[in-house]
Amino acid sequence: MTQDELKQAVARAAIEYVPEGEIIGVGTGSTANYFIDELGKIKDRIKGAVASSEATAARLASHGIPVLDLNDVEGMSVYIDGADEITPQGAMIKGGGAALTREKIVASVAKRFICIADGSKLVDVLGKFPLPVEVIPMAQAAVARRLAALGCEARLRLKDGKPLLTDNGCMILDLVGLRIEKPAELEKQINDIPGVVTVGLFAIGGANVALLGTEEGVKTLTF
Ligand code: A5P
Repeated sequence: MTQDELKQAVARAAIEYVPEGEIIGVGTGSTANYFIDELGKIKDRIKGAVASSEATAARLASHGIPVLDLNDVEGMSVYIDGADEITPQGAMIKGGGAALTREKIVASVAKRFICIADGSKLVDVLGKFPLPVEVIPMAQAAVARRLAALGCEARLRLKDGKPLLTDNGCMILDLVGLRIEKPAELEKQINDIPGVVTVGLFAIGGANVALLGTEEGVKTLTF
């Protein structure tokens, strides 16, 4: 199976976690996109969705799924999203698609985080995938120096030769060369640096369930 077929398989499996008649939170990225396509087939079963990015909002809308403002929603049972890396304990790196801040906000409102990913995302230790950190533009250089002191290289993410701007008008620093043994501690430490909006570590609020696509079928991990 190709990586895309594995992503499609977990996207289909995630439909089982969609509660009837409710509002759900929806993530960002290629796996989340496959999930949105599946959701489109059963859209009459839900009230609507809260999107974690402008791109996800547009894709939901293209399927005729009502997109709700988070401010109008009191709570959600589930948030369904991909990950760049996930450990056997449910800690994740997210933000390869630059949507980490809204992902963390929407996920924090949901009771359960259902992670959908192809099996290659399962790792023993986080950090091989560069850790994204969203920063306020005026603080970018100062934050990069503080982050480099952790023993990594903080690379400003570019798009078409210019700093990439997120949906929030902020920038992304990708941290290369970390071996993250204590993800919850590092999440707090980075979030405490003035100028940091969000770090793409999801360890304090990690996944509750992971659906991982493998050649042997979809494997379910619960945390
Ligand atoms: C988006 O900002 C990310 O957090 C994605 O969830 C993550 O990068 C996984 O993306 P794919 O599903 O495209 O691998």
